[in-house]
Amino acid sequence: MIDHRSRVLILDFGSQYNQLIARRVRELGVYSEVHPYDWPIDAIREFGPGAIVLSGGPASVTGDRPMLPADGLLELGVPILGICYGMQVLTRLLGGDVHRSTRREYGRSMLRLETESRLFSEVARPFQAWMSHGDSVTRLPDGFRLVASTDDCAVAAACDEGERIHMIQFHPEVAHTPQGRLLIKNFLFEIAGLAPDWNMKGFVEAATDEIRARVGSDRVLCALSGGVDSSVTATLMHRAIGDQLVCVFVDHGLLRLNEGDEVMELLGTKHHLTIRRVNAADRFLKKLEGVEDPEKKRRIIGNEFIAVFEEESEKLDGITILAQGTLYPDVIESISTRGPSATIKTHHNVGGLPERMHLKLIEPLRELFKDEVREVGTVLGIDAEILGRHPFPGPGLAVRIVGDVSRERIRMLQEADAVFIQELRERDLYDEIWQAFAVLLPVRSVGVMGDERTYEHVVALRAVTSTDGMTADWAEIPRDDLARISNRIVNEVHGVNRVVYDISSKPPATIEWE
Ligand code: XMP
Repeated sequence: MIDHRSRVLILDFGSQYNQLIARRVRELGVYSEVHPYDWPIDAIREFGPGAIVLSGGPASVTGDRPMLPADGLLELGVPILGICYGMQVLTRLLGGDVHRSTRREYGRSMLRLETESRLFSEVARPFQAWMSHGDSVTRLPDGFRLVASTDDCAVAAACDEGERIHMIQFHPEVAHTPQGRLLIKNFLFEIAGLAPDWNMKGFVEAATDEIRARVGSDRVLCALSGGVDSSVTATLMHRAIGDQLVCVFVDHGLLRLNEGDEVMELLGTKHHLTIRRVNAADRFLKKLEGVEDPEKKRRIIGNEFIAVFEEESEKLDGITILAQGTLYPDVIESISTRGPSATIKTHHNVGGLPERMHLKLIEPLRELFKDEVREVGTVLGIDAEILGRHPFPGPGLAVRIVGDVSRERIRMLQEADAVFIQELRERDLYDEIWQAFAVLLPVRSVGVMGDERTYEHVVALRAVTSTDGMTADWAEIPRDDLARISNRIVNEVHGVNRVVYDISSKPPATIEWE
């Protein structure tokens, strides 16, 4: 475990906003981790939090079996902030009363500040807060005082006399509570006296030491895809253990134009990683011959990937550990959405590999969010171009060639896609867009070039804005830019005579076409 002077423990009672709490705390320069609500007290002691947040959650403390934190939590003497369910559970543990409200309160509310509290120091009035609760505190525990209320909620905020325990009914972590960040800041620095000492340079140093300690003199294998997560994982591992790391880069022939060479150049030549590139396009394309069903394509590619990866690693001696680029949202989603016993999501392409190959797993980025991973990449000196890359699906261009995949279709798509991306970069549009790519359609259309009639392929351009890929909107690329891109594709890509722009949002469409 990484050693930080100031760290915050967030106990997860199932709120969908828990990642946001962790985010806000880290944005303020304090390291935080989310753990299940009933994390054992010994584990908490070992973690050594300087402050604890009890999150919100969908359950009720008024039921028969409320979700309770480990015994002894309140006796640790650590400052505590209870949010929503966290407030109700604190009230119950400390002897106050919580009841089902007659009216559910959901949405924006205005707080009335009734007494002073360090949590609210320097807030401006009016104070708008985001509420989402069915239960309410009806009697505070002994020794607590009311700090704020709303029209619908008699106790919207409270604290104990020593101001060690604070509770709030609303969510300070969401954007709809505009001064929520100030509250979290007050809690961390004014109340808990933490130091803002979490930054990416510190992370890289600590992670390097930890990787060295865990790996010892063993050899580590890493599946490199050229994406942000695996590139940063491999570079960080290499910084720690040098040539004890071997990367395997499976080129399935479904990458973007020149992508394979770029990965080798950037990570192999420039960062001196040992990379075994497996040019397996023939194998993959043979298996994909005549396959039109998208899910079948995915399965074939996934299985073939594992087969190639295993064969390649059998040629290597003494590998005992597999490094994977699992990120924090992958870990945490599983806790909040599937309960504390949920298993961790595995990587798209190498799911199940560690078990199959009897390898131990190391996941040096598992505590980081995506943008933090990019910062680590910057600290490690990885090119901005790689770090800012749009997401790319594991099955690659196979799911962007609607219908049958062939070498000729891959060529057309790669060329059209390269024109599109190059133009977006030159017009400073690339970084504003979550994901942009070309899709090759399985239809041909009539056209006219010069004096000749043509009957050729159609390319669809897709560009979306999004924050997480879960929902997305089509990007409003200026008309002139689209005109230029379309013109270049038809002129430069042999076999394409028509370009269309996809104006569907997600939902109801997905980002990829297959
Ligand atoms: P959809 O198309 O479901 O895509 O809206 C959401 C995000 O996931 C990516 N995606 C995949 N990534 N393997 C991957 O590694 C896949 O099979 C896959 N399918 C979609 C997609 O590019 C987008 O970022």
